[in-house]
This record gives sequence, structure tokens and C-alpha cells, in this order.
Amino acid sequence: MEVLFINGSLSKKSYTQALITYLSSLFDQTHQLREWSFKEAPLPFMIPEFYGCDTRTHPNENVRSFFEAVISANVIVLASPTYHGTISGVLKNALDYLQKGIFSGKTVVAISVGGGIRVSAQTCEAIRSVVRALGSNCLVDAIASGAPDFKENENVINLIDPVIQSRCRAIVDEIISRH
Ligand SMILES: Cc1cc2nc3c(=O)[nH]c(=O)nc-3n(C[C@H](O)[C@H](O)[C@H](O)COP(=O)(O)O)c2cc1C
Repeated sequence: MEVLFINGSLSKKSYTQALITYLSSLFDQTHQLREWSFKEAPLPFMIPEFYGCDTRTHPNENVRSFFEAVISANVIVLASPTYHGTISGVLKNALDYLQKGIFSGKTVVAISVGGGIRVSAQTCEAIRSVVRALGSNCLVDAIASGAPDFKENENVINLIDPVIQSRCRAIVDEIISRH
């Protein structure tokens, strides 16, 4: 099973990354895990003239690779920080490159970090809406978390909240049971 984690944060010290790191640690080595970082591989703004065109022929190499990464994954984890009550522009811009049906046959999971759980639940809902517009559904369970669920130690941010940790475990079990 190939799992692609897409991180919608550009922060150097990212809580969203910490959540991805925790979730990743729960998969055993039989699974292939891949992370897409827009810090390392940024995508240009999506220009509407490309909408409906074959993304494999896009002139930007990162756009082509991003598209191929999404196509080849069985599981896509869409991870976003909460920005003004919704998903980050960076993640939304990337999702705008995708077209209806792209997630067909894949498991899509929404995860988010905000100031608190309530607002990041809203962000997970926003991810769901985009995925729905692309013709698929996210897993019923999402992970909404907030800054108090994490702790920084020697410059490393870790997820420490046991409730969110067990939610992560339940989601990984659900993903594995589906593939
Ligand atoms: C532009 C911007 C808007 C934000 N808006 C919200 C918000 O509406 N509600 C909230 O709780 N936190 C908000 N935050 C805080 C981030 O959600 C929070 O710092 C989160 O941990 C960022 O994730 P990251 O560390 O992975 O970048 C905002 C941060 C930025 C930079």
C-alpha cells in the first residue's frame, strides 16, 4: 500500500508536520510512505487555462510529479493548518490542479491543526468539501487537533495528546483494513 501525505503548511517548525510524523510512525514497514512538502517542491499558482488539460503535460516539473504522486498512491492524507478558519492556500492551490475522479478507488483522509480542535474540525470539513467536489468522499473519521495537543522539546514538535494519538491509531487501522 502506498500512502501519500500532503502537507499544506510551509512552516519551518510545523505542527501539521508533527501530526503527519506521528501518523506515519504507526504504519509498519510493509507500507510505502511518501510525503509531499510544498516547501521543498512548491507548485506555481494554478492558472485556469490548464484546467481540464492533461496535467502530465504541464510545463512545471513539480506539478507533473505532484500529479503522478497522487495518481500512484492508494491512500492520500490531506493535512492542513487552519488559516482563517479553513485550509491553507498552498494546499487549496495544489488541489486545484486535480480533476474530478482523481481520488476514485483511493482512501482520502483529512487531518488538520489549528489553535484548537473546534476550528480545525472546520478545516477538516473544508477538505471534505473539496474532495467531494472532486467526486469522492474522505474517511468518516478525520483528525482535528490544536496546538495544546503538541509539545516542543529541543526544537522538535511532538504530538502528546493521548486522545488524538488513539484517534490516529484508529484511522491507521481503518486504512489498513481497507487495503
Ligand atoms: C495566516 C494564518 C491564519 C491563521 N488562522 C487561524 C485561525 O483562523 N484559527 C486558528 O485557530 N489558528 C489560525 N492560525 C494558526 C495556525 O492554524 C496554527 O499556528 C497551526 O498550528 C499552523 O500549523 P503549522 O505549524 O503546521 O504551520 C493561523 C495562522 C496563519 C499563519
